[in-house]
Amino acid sequence: MTMVKGLPFAIIGTVALVLGSRANVSRQAPVSSAHASISTEWPSYGGGPDGIRYSPLSEINRTNVDKLEVAWTFDSGEGPGGTQCQPIVVNETFYCLTPQHKVVALDAATGKRKWEFDSGIVGRGANRGLTYWTDGTERRIFSAATHFVYALNATTGEQIKNFGINGRIDLREDVGRDPAKQSIILTTPGVIYKDMLIVGGRVSESLPCTPGDIRAYDVRTGKLRWSFHTIPHPGEFGYKTWPKLAWKVSGSANNWAGMTVDHAREIVFVPTGSAASDFYGSDRVGDDLFANTMLALDANTGKRIWHFQGVKHDIWDRDFPAPPALVRVKRGNKWIDAVAQTTKSGHVYVFERKNGKPLFPVKYSKVPASDTPGEMAAKTQPLPTKPAPFARQILTEDMMTNRTPEAHKFAVEKFRTFAGGKPFTPFRVNQETIIFPGFDGGAEWGGPAYDPETNLLYVNANEMAWTSNLAKNDHVKTARQIYLQNCGNCHGDTLAGSPPQLPKLVNMGPKWDLNAIFKITRQGAGRMPSFPNLSDEEVRAVSQYVLNGESKPIQSDEPDAVTQDYRFTGYRKFLDQEGFPAITPPWGSLNAINMSTGEYAWKIPLGEYPELAAKGMKDTGSENYGGPVVTAGGLVFIGATNYDRKFRAFDKSTGKLLWETTLPYSSNATPAVYSVGGRQYVVVNAEGSKDRPNAPKGAKYIAFALPRH
Ligand code: HEC
Repeated sequence: MTMVKGLPFAIIGTVALVLGSRANVSRQAPVSSAHASISTEWPSYGGGPDGIRYSPLSEINRTNVDKLEVAWTFDSGEGPGGTQCQPIVVNETFYCLTPQHKVVALDAATGKRKWEFDSGIVGRGANRGLTYWTDGTERRIFSAATHFVYALNATTGEQIKNFGINGRIDLREDVGRDPAKQSIILTTPGVIYKDMLIVGGRVSESLPCTPGDIRAYDVRTGKLRWSFHTIPHPGEFGYKTWPKLAWKVSGSANNWAGMTVDHAREIVFVPTGSAASDFYGSDRVGDDLFANTMLALDANTGKRIWHFQGVKHDIWDRDFPAPPALVRVKRGNKWIDAVAQTTKSGHVYVFERKNGKPLFPVKYSKVPASDTPGEMAAKTQPLPTKPAPFARQILTEDMMTNRTPEAHKFAVEKFRTFAGGKPFTPFRVNQETIIFPGFDGGAEWGGPAYDPETNLLYVNANEMAWTSNLAKNDHVKTARQIYLQNCGNCHGDTLAGSPPQLPKLVNMGPKWDLNAIFKITRQGAGRMPSFPNLSDEEVRAVSQYVLNGESKPIQSDEPDAVTQDYRFTGYRKFLDQEGFPAITPPWGSLNAINMSTGEYAWKIPLGEYPELAAKGMKDTGSENYGGPVVTAGGLVFIGATNYDRKFRAFDKSTGKLLWETTLPYSSNATPAVYSVGGRQYVVVNAEGSKDRPNAPKGAKYIAFALPRH
């Protein structure tokens, strides 16, 4: 991309778009080709300012994609990880994260290391990318390690010491609560608007929990410029949708999925997740604005322009899971600038950007009440009437697996013991209750891709049934109760977890002694929060409980912070007796949806289980994480599939498979597309973190390109 002097790099493309669209709204094609033709880079998470994961490059296209070969690979040597990192590419430099969250800059043409930044903090788990900023002279990379955000010199990797305190800001500050007691980490990179870095963050899923304030920091100084309270303070809009003291004691309603900025309209679109605790809301009676909400904020001030709440009083953890895509919708002969948001429930919401008007009608329907004491489920919930959902919505007995007669029988018998099967069924006490599509969607954090040429939105989705239930808490302070109230929601009441995402805590193996368990519980790891609410004594007691089941009473003068009557007992996939999904396929899909008509251009299963495919059960679809990218070469590239470890290219118009390759580890991340010196590269990050325990282990960035003769 050519640099325009004095203009922040990130908004050059948008300027072209603005001029185009203001000049002639009604006849303007959906893409500004002036913008498109110069984007040889991948300057931000999501690919560019519109968050559409689109590349205008076409050297690799339908006619030659089957010739792709590995151009270079990069392996930090840190072994397996789960960063889910989508690299960025600017100035012929490739910026990415290692499994331990070091920042590495590579030569984008060769994969040769230019510099590395080690914050000294050994990170784990999700850290989905980096943020680039320039004013035309200075160039910075912002990277996260746990609750810190670092500013680095993009050319040398040196930490910029006059940013924040000693070169970093601490996200536990500025939320109006004791910083030492906050647990927050930045898992999706922030976005740039003018000279601000706007961030959300991942917080705990149960109380006590950090509030999900959206914050904008000065890119030069690290000073807080504005903050938006997603749990409104007294006097703020939405305050009355919570109990009076929620703004002080409740938490979450956070943006962990990332945001998208409309630079021309000066709006930042912020999708938020559910409030804490995820599955029982007796202490947050009300709609809980702005949880599960698409927020349109004035990017200059953080003031709310409009909002749409997707789930009222969420008790299913139906976070908006991905940054929205800035798309266009044709109505009559006019193109309307719109913002599209995919959901875990399998829907796409499409709103007019400037005022939040739904471009397909949204209908509020009556939903089931909760029979759990204290719970007040919302009476109605909204859903878009179009596009049709991209995952099945209702689970019935005739959808039990037919993989084998035994599997079918097993699934039917289990299914008959479950409650629910319809959307918005509250989890019951002591009875397994179905959530479908499951806790991981529908859509997830990989985000959709949008093609300005065809006006299609590409969304990959999981289609698995999961179950869980609620259980009553004893209000006694024992190690077991601390476990159930702080750990059981992820590792399960029975310590069975939900591997590989949430490890089981039984038979943990030789490296796990009391000290090791104490350490990981004190510090947190990846998706596991640290527990600043627990004293060292409590952490030691709960570690002992995990190690050998010993449950001592705890002596403590501290009042128990967690006094809810019911708790969630863990995430359980509905699997057959051999560990395959207990429902009929597809178990995962890739969808192409026309944004103007809301109709599907195509829909295909995505992924398969190699051992089932070998027996003839092909194209079942499988769980998949990490999104697609779409190119002007007519291609949709996607890795994502957990078990077959494939990286695939489809014809973007038809969904026809044109090329595939097997990766050393599955790629649970969204690819990046760029070119250097006229040669186009498509890069995937393969870390395999969601594959099964016996899968090959490692982490590699792999760049594909056409052969050079
Ligand atoms: C929000 C979900 C969540 C909660 C709550 C949670 N954990 Fe974890 N835990 C995880 C995840 C994810 C990992 C894997 C982390 C990694 O290796 O990156 C993990 C790993 C662990 C491990 C290491 C196990 C192994 O084999 O790798 C231990 C021990 C553990 N957790 C104990 C606890 C205890 C004790 C609590 C409660 C005080 C707790 N966890 C609460 C998600 C959670």
